[in-house]
Formats: sequence, C-alpha cells, structure tokens
Amino acid sequence: MPKLTVEGVAEFEVPQDKRLVLALEDEAGLDQLHACGGNARCTTCRVEFISGEPDRMTEAEKSVLAARGLTGVRLSCQIVCDHDMAVRAISRLAGSGRKDAGSRPDDQIQPPPVWGPR
Ligand code: FES
Repeated sequence: MPKLTVEGVAEFEVPQDKRLVLALEDEAGLDQLHACGGNARCTTCRVEFISGEPDRMTEAEKSVLAARGLTGVRLSCQIVCDHDMAVRAISRLAGSGRKDAGSRPDDQIQPPPVWGPR
C-alpha cells in the first residue's frame, strides 16, 4: 500500500489508488476542504507537494489551476495514491470560515479523468 506523509501530522498507509482527497480525510483524519465535492471546480482541495508529486495531471485539474492562476499546488481530488507521496495540507476547514468541508467526494475521480502531463 502506498504511504502518505502529511507534514506535521504523520505517515499513513493508504489503499492503492484511493483518491488523495479521501485519504487525507479518512486515513489522515484531516478536516480537508473539498467544497465542490471533488469535481475539479473549487480548488479548495489544494495541497502542496513535498515529494512524490505525480507526473500526470487530469485535464480538469490543469484547466482549473490555469483559470485561477494557481501554481505550486495540486488538487487532491484529481490525484490517486498510487505511489508514496508527502504533502502539506494547506486548505482545511479550521479557520476557513466555512460551515463544512463540502460533500463527500465520489470514490472515483470526477469528472472521469483524461490524463496528460502536468
Ligand atoms: S476542486 Fe473542488 S474538491 Fe477538488
């Protein structure tokens, strides 16, 4: 099983190919934001990679990051845990002023992923 390290939190074993946003919530127990429910629209599921940043990126992720002018972050709803990775959780419910983290993302990447290079 891939290992997920969350800076300042701990290391966690994650089921192969689990969506990163769900691993942050379930395995790491974080109050990770995912306001759009994991559909590559809100960017609140963003994380910073310390190591193991995936080389591939969904077209949906690429498009929304470009539209918002975001660099240096990745969308955890558009990434699966298929290898060891270490991230910084920079977008959490605590301190956000939001009433909840967002509805639970589907088990599969949505919209159905079209992969390209990052
Ligand atoms: S972009 Fe909204 S949860 Fe990922």
